[in-house]
Amino acid sequence: MIFMHEKIVELLSQTEDYISGQELSTQLGVSRQAVWKAINTLKSQGYVFDSITRKGYKLVAYPEHLNTYAVKSHLNTNLIGKNLTVLDSVTSTNDYLKILGANGCESGTLVASREQTKGKGRLGRVWQTKKDDGIAFSFLLRPDLAPNEITGITPLAGLAVCKAIRDYTGIDCKIKWPNDIITGHKKLVGILTELSAEFSAVEYTITGIGINVEHTQFPQEIAHKATSIFLETGKHIDRNEFLAVVIEYLERELLTNDLRLTEKALKEYTSLCATIGRNVSFFRNSQQLNGVAEKIDNNGELVVKLEDGTLHTVNSGEVTV
Ligand code: BTN
Repeated sequence: MIFMHEKIVELLSQTEDYISGQELSTQLGVSRQAVWKAINTLKSQGYVFDSITRKGYKLVAYPEHLNTYAVKSHLNTNLIGKNLTVLDSVTSTNDYLKILGANGCESGTLVASREQTKGKGRLGRVWQTKKDDGIAFSFLLRPDLAPNEITGITPLAGLAVCKAIRDYTGIDCKIKWPNDIITGHKKLVGILTELSAEFSAVEYTITGIGINVEHTQFPQEIAHKATSIFLETGKHIDRNEFLAVVIEYLERELLTNDLRLTEKALKEYTSLCATIGRNVSFFRNSQQLNGVAEKIDNNGELVVKLEDGTLHTVNSGEVTV
């Protein structure tokens, strides 16, 4: 959407009243004809306006697809998403936010996109986001912490998203260590946190979250292990409202716990973690080890008891369940 269209939506979204065509044209420095044309373009994109002669225009409804002002109209946070943009298409919201981060954007800045053309998963994998089938977003934080002190961010984000999905959709989802959200054996959400740090200080963290929402099917190679909110519930959710809810859960979990995996958060994470008590295997020095997942420690690491009774801490990578 070009700047004028966005400005019209912004102005109309800030009031319950009508704004006249004349006032819009004065505020935007364009002709009334241009305003009228822009309103028609916006209508064709799914915006609904009420218009009354001599009173002007009132914004009545936003498009169904993810869009900046609809998310903002539902959002009530103090940090995460205060600065929020929804793009139509981007390579990767993590990569886009890295550029904003290097240019000094404020902590809490959030970028979502209807589509990602080069979405990234963990361990160098690809994360596909076709237009309007998923929610892909990333937020940036500037914590006053050392790199070894930020281990709480990803598990807290996983916990927040898991709770938001459970409450909003009723899906009985769980956390698969370290940070997938699954239901049954199928993945619903992936999380990728990246870091920019200098010496002993973190410059910023970027947490990217991909939620499968509207997918009716997945590529053959992942169809057995991926699912979506629609496939689980048979319902189409309001993506703009849902994203606002997820952001509110993220802010609450991250800020009330001061970005750390506190005892309370760890207890909740553990109760929702599908990995605990399961047989898992992992690699250590190129050797595959098998054991039972005992617990998560307060760094978010998985403690595994091997068959010989020894305990091993797994801090990254992936365990096979
Ligand atoms: C994984 O499970 O492998 C992590 C997937 C993370 C995907 C999200 S979608 C939004 C953000 N942008 C990206 O390129 N990746 C993350």
